[in-house]
Amino acid sequence: MMAVGVLISGRGSNLKALLDACRDDFPARIAVVVSNRADAAGLDHARAAGVPTVTLDPAAHESRDAFDHALTAALEAHGVELVCLAGYMKLVTAGFVARWHNRLINIHPSLLPAFKGLHAQRQALAAGVKIAGCTVHFVREEMDSGPILLQAAVPVLPDDTESSLAARILAEEHRLYPEALRLIAEGRVTVEGERCIVRA
Ligand code: GRF
Repeated sequence: MMAVGVLISGRGSNLKALLDACRDDFPARIAVVVSNRADAAGLDHARAAGVPTVTLDPAAHESRDAFDHALTAALEAHGVELVCLAGYMKLVTAGFVARWHNRLINIHPSLLPAFKGLHAQRQALAAGVKIAGCTVHFVREEMDSGPILLQAAVPVLPDDTESSLAARILAEEHRLYPEALRLIAEGRVTVEGERCIVRA
């Protein structure tokens, strides 16, 4: 059973999808949820599932490196083997990415490498693309880059708003993130030459 740490900053709907998946016959368990904001609504999902929570205040640490060291210490204290970023809005440091190399994944609401950064759905609408989606990838130093594990596509409809498109993508995120976690926890994923290979 793979022990997973989930990092959040807000709503936590992807965290909820992971927690729900872990209630069934599943090869991973959420060992701890860490938030950089005490008021993150997603913390309630963890508490409701009986999962330990940790809140770390960036203002209480003297540097980003010090904060990420505390983050790693909290994860290690709970035996974490894989870290999932789930709406975690703080950039992680190079040291953190190195410590968790190929053990750190993220979900992003675009078909990467398109539309990195904030407001990916708004970027997709502005670009006029006809297909949007979401991506689960291993994290590298550069934001929203790294080996792509899974992607899901959705249509962009003519009357879409940012929120209607985001909702359509989010439904796919909630399916895709547990699927990605399952593949990794089953030991079916390797990274070769910065591409993910998934064994059937
Ligand atoms: C999701 O759209 C995710 O792809 C992005 O941030 C959002 C987080 O939503 N990284 P939630 O907190 O999981 O509800």
